[in-house]
Amino acid sequence: MMIDKVAKLTIDDKPSIDLPIHEATYGPELIDVAALGKHNFFTYDPGFISTASCKSAITYIDGDKGILLHRGYPIDQLAKKTDFLTTAYLLLKGELPNSTQQQDFKKTITSHVSPPAIIEQTLQGFAKGAHPMAMLISLLGALAGYYHPIKIRDAAERKQAIEQLIGYMPTLVAMTYQHYLGNKINTPREGLDYASQFMYLLFDDTRANNPTLNKAIDRILILHADHEQNASTSTVRLAGSTLANPYACIAAGTAALWGTAHGGANEAVIKMLTEIKDEKNIEEYIARAKDPNSNFRLMGFGHRVYKNYDPRATVMKQTCDEVLNELGTPDDPLFRIAMQLEKIALEDEYFIQRKLYPNVDFYSGIILRAIGIPTALFTSIFALARTVGWLAQWSEMLDDNDFKIGRPRQWYTGPTERDI
Ligand code: CMC
Repeated sequence: MMIDKVAKLTIDDKPSIDLPIHEATYGPELIDVAALGKHNFFTYDPGFISTASCKSAITYIDGDKGILLHRGYPIDQLAKKTDFLTTAYLLLKGELPNSTQQQDFKKTITSHVSPPAIIEQTLQGFAKGAHPMAMLISLLGALAGYYHPIKIRDAAERKQAIEQLIGYMPTLVAMTYQHYLGNKINTPREGLDYASQFMYLLFDDTRANNPTLNKAIDRILILHADHEQNASTSTVRLAGSTLANPYACIAAGTAALWGTAHGGANEAVIKMLTEIKDEKNIEEYIARAKDPNSNFRLMGFGHRVYKNYDPRATVMKQTCDEVLNELGTPDDPLFRIAMQLEKIALEDEYFIQRKLYPNVDFYSGIILRAIGIPTALFTSIFALARTVGWLAQWSEMLDDNDFKIGRPRQWYTGPTERDI
């Protein structure tokens, strides 16, 4: 790599240290601090506010402008002009497929709709009503046991693991849903596309045959497919950096996604909107969110990277309109509360100053709920979609010449050596 710029770091009266500066296709330049360790200095950056953990050619976010590109293509174009598996192909392989490649890819992925039957036994360890995310993590763990070892350096074995994981995910999520309800899982039906199969595994034929609802699910999957180095993706990369089984890496990513600061926010938004109950109570919740003595935050608001409207939320809001119209419930009370909450927050000095805007999770829950999906399943649907991004990032990491086991350093603040 050609380096033509350096940063000079001077500490006390020591000779300055030259740190190479790398240029990115888009976004800030990067000061390469790898050499600092040799000089007996570490960098400290809790929450990785200013630290790039890797280089990546998959996704670019301009948080100030509210732009999200996958392999250079804007997210709104992908949401309107492609379907989920086409976007998945793009994320994994770097280019959009031609029509033969698209058909072959879809055929291969959808042929993996049935995971090995033995893993269903894993669900028997869970009570009816257990959280679907807990079950999903375990099912992925069971698959890691079933498919072990996998030679991740072998292109064919890696490809197969990627395709199986993407193919199995709708069925795994549906299995957790049916077990959550105390039902048996439907047998997958031949010839259905990815989103329709998922709807079929969740619901009866009537719901699974509704093109508007299937399209809405497919679009939700596109909007969640990847988002560069977020907490769960970084978890998958870190787990993968130890050369762990890919199914186990995806289980790790699923666990990291679960929290309400990340993918769990879609579930938390619906709980919050239900709790607000009436537009007249919105001001009270806004006041709580602003109160420095309260831990309460507006769920579905704010983002580490976006300091503008999340472009995914724009598409999500339009999809929400379409779904509610299709279902004949355009006056859905939660949607009304959400729109009013957004309006009030966006005019409030606290949110303006901190650049807090609705994120992808703000409207997705309203769509999923309108389709009839229980809130407990929302984050699993996020995991289903993000599996594609996790795998694309995991595979990119393994092929990176700079690849090393992830091993951060620390700022030790404990006691000095002492005797017992
Ligand atoms: N409601 C009220 N205040 C907020 C919110 C919110 N949702 N988000 C941030 N703030 C305030 C925060 O209190 C802080 O104020 P001050 O400067 O006075 O201390 C300021 O904004 C900056 O917040 P931060 O916690 O330093 O920001 P962060 O980048 O560490 O956190 C976040 C980002 C997404 C965790 C946070 O905005 C949040 O908790 N949002 C609610 C949960 C949510 O919607 N998460 C989904 C994120 S998008 C999908 C995904 O990644 O999965």
